[in-house]
Amino acid sequence: MAEISKEKIEKILELFKKCIEKVENEKELEEVKVKFLGRKSDFNQIMKGLKDLSDGDKKEIGSYANEVKKNMATILEDRFESMKNKEFSNKEWLDVTAPGEKRKIGRLNILSQTQKEIEDIFISMGFEVVDGPEIETEWYNFDALNVPKNHPARDAWDTFWLKQKTSSGERLAPRPHTSPMQIRYMEKHQPPFRVIIPGRCFRHEAIDANHEHTFYQFEALLVGDDITVANFKDVAKKFFSVFFGKEIEVRLRPSYFPFTEPSFEFDISCTVCGGRGCKSCKHNGWLEVGGAGMVNQRVFEAAGYEKGRYQGFAWGFGIERLAMMKYKIDDIRIFRSGDLRIIIS
Ligand code: PHE
Repeated sequence: MAEISKEKIEKILELFKKCIEKVENEKELEEVKVKFLGRKSDFNQIMKGLKDLSDGDKKEIGSYANEVKKNMATILEDRFESMKNKEFSNKEWLDVTAPGEKRKIGRLNILSQTQKEIEDIFISMGFEVVDGPEIETEWYNFDALNVPKNHPARDAWDTFWLKQKTSSGERLAPRPHTSPMQIRYMEKHQPPFRVIIPGRCFRHEAIDANHEHTFYQFEALLVGDDITVANFKDVAKKFFSVFFGKEIEVRLRPSYFPFTEPSFEFDISCTVCGGRGCKSCKHNGWLEVGGAGMVNQRVFEAAGYEKGRYQGFAWGFGIERLAMMKYKIDDIRIFRSGDLRIIIS
């Protein structure tokens, strides 16, 4: 009878591992299996002889032998498996019945999507979309909009001023709103016209769930001969009803902006409860959306139009705010956070 000891079993295992390393195909692997685990293998002889050992040895060597047996069986199985896979890939094997794997892909940021939706609605109402510079002079940001230097109204726009100035020494700032483009557009175009100006804006703002230092605004400007507040209300009502896919009411509240006269803040009927009152609208039925008003004649003058010749309305609102309402997002900071829920579909 063969000698039975832990050392012997260990040696067999080492030899087995060496042989496995050299194996190149399934046939050779099958041979190794027979050689080490087959009926006539040394290992099998040991297994058979276990019953003749003393009780103590039987327990110790027996459990070790079983462990080694399992170990060899697992190694063999793995090798068989990987060889099969290799064979398949060598033959460019393809299982056309296997279920597809859904790839996660990036998509337009929800803000860009919202901007596009807004643009499409205005375009369908005959508006032109125009773009403007993000760094603006003090003249376009404020002076031409009837916001004089040292006037307390300026405090409403927490502006980041740049160290650089224009060659003529004028102060520059990343625009705190899209309104400066009203002037730039009117300098080059004569009424009647209707335009929207989407764009990134910047304010030196304390950040919280509703305020960001960098955000997007939408400016709408419609100028012609007999434009009234009723025209504004009508355009706003149509726009919001299409944007939210349901009938929306618009409400105006008196307000103050230097570049509009009269000025108002406007609200829309709550998009969740329709105005009856719910948690989203803090039970008052209305949601605050933006600022608007009839263009101040001083603004027309600054743009080069004859005073009193035209009327028009202007309004501005935040794209984030609209996206938050439509997609039920409760924190403005998420848009710029890289959060996967925002950037992956
Ligand atoms: N520019 C204003 C703001 O940023 C909004 C506004 C635009 C108000 C046009 C009236 C008319 O607060």
